[in-house]
Amino acid sequence: MNLSLNGPGLWYVTRATGIVTLLMLTFSVFLGVVTRSRRSTRRLPRFVLVGLHRNVSLMVMVFLALHVLTTVIDSYTNISVLDAFVPFLSQYRPVYLGLGALACDALIVVVVTSLLRERIGFRTWKTLHLLSYLCWPVALVHAWGTGTDPGVAWGRWIGYGCVAFIACVVGWRVAIGARPNRADTLAP
Ligand code: HEM
Repeated sequence: MNLSLNGPGLWYVTRATGIVTLLMLTFSVFLGVVTRSRRSTRRLPRFVLVGLHRNVSLMVMVFLALHVLTTVIDSYTNISVLDAFVPFLSQYRPVYLGLGALACDALIVVVVTSLLRERIGFRTWKTLHLLSYLCWPVALVHAWGTGTDPGVAWGRWIGYGCVAFIACVVGWRVAIGARPNRADTLAP
């Protein structure tokens, strides 16, 4: 069975799902940082943040799957399923597509080990979860290097917005790092 299709429709879907994946990944990194900081409010208790982080991460996987699927079945470029998972194998834009494959692999490891956290133990999970810090910048460079939309102003502003947002999140996390949680200080 030949699943190859062609036409601009698929290409638009690849671009749209790529952007949604990047935005949701950015949001997921934010939720992960907030969850780990153990800061919560009465309106946004920790269990809500943890649940939101997990569900947004699963949605990232759904949009990434669509992004990869439309890329692979689009016969305009000759990108195979293997190219999507084995970095730097593709003949089409090997470096930037290879970075996409790297981010994809890292994301799969992070999500699968999170689902198996009880079985693999906290230490192993925590070590592997550090891959999420690699995944986000690598995915961003992939998008910037191979995307069509970073060539136009609104596409570039999405990229700048994501970078500024993550810079603020990391800055906030570093700033509060040394300060104890208010709830801790109130504890008897
Ligand atoms: C976490 C992983 C990934 C993220 C967040 C991501 C995100 C993005 C984004 C934001 C774009 C720019 C879309 C545009 O505005 O033009 C893009 C482009 C692209 N991505 Fe990915 N991507 C990822 C992984 C992959 C993988 C594994 C493949 C391989 C199948 C792939 C194939 C492509 C292709 C072919 C383009 C160029 C589309 C165009 O011509 O504009 N991506 N990606």
